[in-house]
Amino acid sequence: MFMALIEVAGVDYIYADGQRALKNVSLKIDRGERVAVLGPNGAGKSTLFQLFNGLLSPSAGDVLVKNLWVRKENLAEIRRSVGMVFQDPDDQLFNSTVRQEIAYGLLNMRVSGKALEEAVSWALEVVGLNGYGGKSPHNLSGGEKKRVALASVLAMRPEVLVLDEPTAALDPRGVARLIRLLNSINRELGITLIFATHDVDIVPLLADRIYLLSQGEILLGGTTAEVFRRKELIRQVDLRLPRVAHLVELLEREGVCAPSELPLTIGRAKGFLTGQLRGSGGHL
Ligand SMILES: Nc1ncnc2c1ncn2[C@@H]1O[C@H](COP(=O)(O)OP(=O)(O)OP(=O)(O)O)[C@@H](O)[C@H]1O
Ligand SMILES: [Mg+2]
Repeated sequence: MFMALIEVAGVDYIYADGQRALKNVSLKIDRGERVAVLGPNGAGKSTLFQLFNGLLSPSAGDVLVKNLWVRKENLAEIRRSVGMVFQDPDDQLFNSTVRQEIAYGLLNMRVSGKALEEAVSWALEVVGLNGYGGKSPHNLSGGEKKRVALASVLAMRPEVLVLDEPTAALDPRGVARLIRLLNSINRELGITLIFATHDVDIVPLLADRIYLLSQGEILLGGTTAEVFRRKELIRQVDLRLPRVAHLVELLEREGVCAPSELPLTIGRAKGFLTGQLRGSGGHL
């Protein structure tokens, strides 16, 4: 029987002070997908993600992971499947060395000896932190901490990786590297990706589908192309198009080109503009 990996149905979340952070939220994520939850500050992204592994329980509605209710009796199994990388790595890092930090979850899963060593080394290597094993996580820079948090979760090879603002605090090279890493673990290890962001430029590089979240409500869900076609709505919720799409939109407004679809990545824009320039002898 077909089942979604994560299913959220009609969920409300109300904080103790009465703030209704999620309003009737429903979504489904299938195995192997790359899904972005895109929304401005305060939209409810972090609140939503904390429902996926039971850190928060919905005030109304249901959350299921692999057809299991996210409830106390299922949490151990759910937390083995769902690897969560928090928005703020300081919420996640508590061991005295990076090596211990990465080994921690594995030790809980009774991994030991050579397998443990290999898993820790692999995780350090993929996030580009070779040689950092003996350092204290608390003395690292913001971007380095973020990578340690990712490594500690990746080492456990979860079925689904839930990343809250994965590129915040990373420098441009760090962002490019992370995008490559996440895409390769999705493709090669089949790990499902769900990430929250307001960084519209990274979304087309990392997501097949988007849920647009604003003021606690899912306004729109669809493929990356479908969602970015709704330019007015995106701007209404204080987001924007990727820079390169905005540039082509301005060129279109000038009447110098007429794309059938705005390119969302530099690669697509290069293909489109090269075609236009070649067709017109070098002039747009
Ligand atoms: N512990 C809390 N108590 C009361 N209100 C809260 C609490 N945590 C978050 N909120 C409120 O809930 C709403 C959603 O917050 P949330 O952190 O989920 O947003 P977000 O989309 O992750 O934002 P950002 O992009 O800034 O990380 C906000 O209005 C926030 O002020
Ligand atoms: Mg957040």
